Amino acid sequence: GKGEYDHFMLKEITEQPTSLAQALEGRIDSANGRIALADFEPGTFADVDSVQFVACGTSYHAALYGSLVLNQAGIRSTALLANEYSVSAPPVDDDTLVIAVSQSGETADTLAALRQATAAGADTLTVTNVVGSTAAREADDALFIRAGPEIGVAATKTFSSQAVMLTLLAQRIAADRLGDPPADLEALLAELEAMPGRIERLLDESTARGIADRYSDSESYFFIGRGLGFPVALEGALKFKEITYEHAEGFASGELKHGPLALVTPETPVFAIFTGQEDEKTLKNAEEAQTRGAPVIAVCPDGHPAVDAADEHLAIPETVPDLAGLLANVQLQLVSYYAADLLDRPIDKPRNLAKSVTVE
Ligand code: F6R
Repeated sequence: GKGEYDHFMLKEITEQPTSLAQALEGRIDSANGRIALADFEPGTFADVDSVQFVACGTSYHAALYGSLVLNQAGIRSTALLANEYSVSAPPVDDDTLVIAVSQSGETADTLAALRQATAAGADTLTVTNVVGSTAAREADDALFIRAGPEIGVAATKTFSSQAVMLTLLAQRIAADRLGDPPADLEALLAELEAMPGRIERLLDESTARGIADRYSDSESYFFIGRGLGFPVALEGALKFKEITYEHAEGFASGELKHGPLALVTPETPVFAIFTGQEDEKTLKNAEEAQTRGAPVIAVCPDGHPAVDAADEHLAIPETVPDLAGLLANVQLQLVSYYAADLLDRPIDKPRNLAKSVTVE
């Protein structure tokens, strides 16, 4: 049940320290500075030349996150919407690994893409929450995120577990393929182990409710981020629109000036996500919106230059760029939740939506 919580969504947001610790359990070998994935011996991915991710919705945002980590680690990769795959799949060969990311493992679009990739001769892997799901049975291999059941239609804890597992998997693929673990792997693993505690602190100290309250009668809500902040901006906007029924859009920070700026007014708050990847550019992009009257909410650590420049601050603990966006995402989940609650929306079961979409 929901226990002390008004909604499953808030319960599941609050569970993230535990669900992430479960995802990581036994998968980080700190003594040797290595990633330990049972079923995937070191060297498993040595022949992987390129990776295609296929997924929908929130899982697509996690897939994009994983794909960016892989590209940054030097492995060719791309994230594709599973529902577009049938008309526009890039070519695959025996050295292509296709990774289907799906919380339920039952999404029809994602299963169709997985089957198409298998038929085309790719190796396949699924990253899923559900043991025994169709994706887990049909893919060559499965990596489970162990988030536990998620009841709220809006995916929350499963997104963070997907993104963390995909980050680990990306680093493992890169280490297998390139022969050496990346130089900064040990630091990343230590930061990963610190994530549950950091999310705990963030949840305790969050100012999300006040921010949701102050901007709750805005016209439209924008989310911007660069690098690994970009998938988080997309996810922040998806969560916001699906449970508040208000218009929200996510953009790559640098895209704002290529069109969307025309929409910016004092009625369009801009949530700017800072991950430590060219933050000075993102700050400049946010300031361009602020000049047009938009309130800017900076999602960044205390002491960051954006704190003084912005109108509001959602604080995240300091960490490495590979993980900062995931902390920002938790703050944005809370903003969406409180905004929807103020508007009295049926948070756990938004209109027109189902937890598992089993038609194409
Ligand atoms: C959004 C949401 C959906 C799902 C999408 C894919 O909060 O939950 O966008 O992410 O329908 O579902 P799975 O991950 O089960 O394949």
